[in-house]
Amino acid sequence: MAAPRIFVTRAIPEASLARLARALPDARIEGGTEDRVLSHAELRSGARGADALLCTLADRIDRELLEALTPHLRIVSTFAVGYENIDVAAARQLGVRVTHTPGVLTEATAEIAVALLLACARRVVEGDRMLREGGFTGWSPLAMRGHAVYGKTLGIVGAGRIGWRVARTLKLGFDCEVLVHSRRAHPDWERELGARFVPLSELLERADFVSLHCPSSPETHHLIDASALARMKPTAVLVNTSRGNVVDEAALVAALASNQIAATGLDVYEREPALAPGLARCENAVLLPHQGSATFEAREAMGRLAVDAIAAVLSGREPEHALA
Ligand code: DGY
Repeated sequence: MAAPRIFVTRAIPEASLARLARALPDARIEGGTEDRVLSHAELRSGARGADALLCTLADRIDRELLEALTPHLRIVSTFAVGYENIDVAAARQLGVRVTHTPGVLTEATAEIAVALLLACARRVVEGDRMLREGGFTGWSPLAMRGHAVYGKTLGIVGAGRIGWRVARTLKLGFDCEVLVHSRRAHPDWERELGARFVPLSELLERADFVSLHCPSSPETHHLIDASALARMKPTAVLVNTSRGNVVDEAALVAALASNQIAATGLDVYEREPALAPGLARCENAVLLPHQGSATFEAREAMGRLAVDAIAAVLSGREPEHALA
């Protein structure tokens, strides 16, 4: 039998590739040397004839690509928890397994959400910028006042693992009241955090901090649009560490420019890596380059899950975290 071929679309931590090589010593591991997104044509030609494809959230794995790569291709393993870039239904129809890496980036992403929230409320980045630009002329009773976090109301949209971790941090660390909006009620949120499940409109109207933790889907596309932003308090902060298209970014720029809301902290963008026109000029926006899961620990764990799934499928075992 020919040695299995694995195509890796982008450089991933060394340890992950080494683990893959140890698990499948006969396999030919190709790609994974360059730290850039491949074009669709490069992806198609690189993955041709591969038994396994290890991709990232920036690779578009659509039906056309899957059809071109089957029947040879047996698994698409994405180095991410989000998988809206993959046509999972098409993969299922074509008999290709699809796996992702949930659970291991929860804490890392929650840390970034909390960091953004605090940075916005207490104007951390603005203060740093002002000082470096020579604007700090001494302590002043009026300067750099922000909004306290302690004892305020946090609104979490999407009651998954990351939202839970953010809510717990703000509840236990900052005595915040927690409001949640999600498709289903989760009794543990009520029991352990005293959280209240409320309609989105109520959450937006009451929360001092709104943190988004819902996946990208047709239902969540532009969930936070101009009318949602208009419901928020003028002192409110919007944090998004989920997916960019949950927010209408142009409407957000308008809301920030007119101080309709106080500030935003974003780690994800609607047309990543591009920013909506005007966003970078908003002083009241703290902008990070999609680094929610960027800890050494989380990226290594993501790599471990991604390569273990490939090793499982190519060895005839059931992979963990299968979507198809
Ligand atoms: C994911 O895995 O979907 C995250 O967005 C990566 O940070």
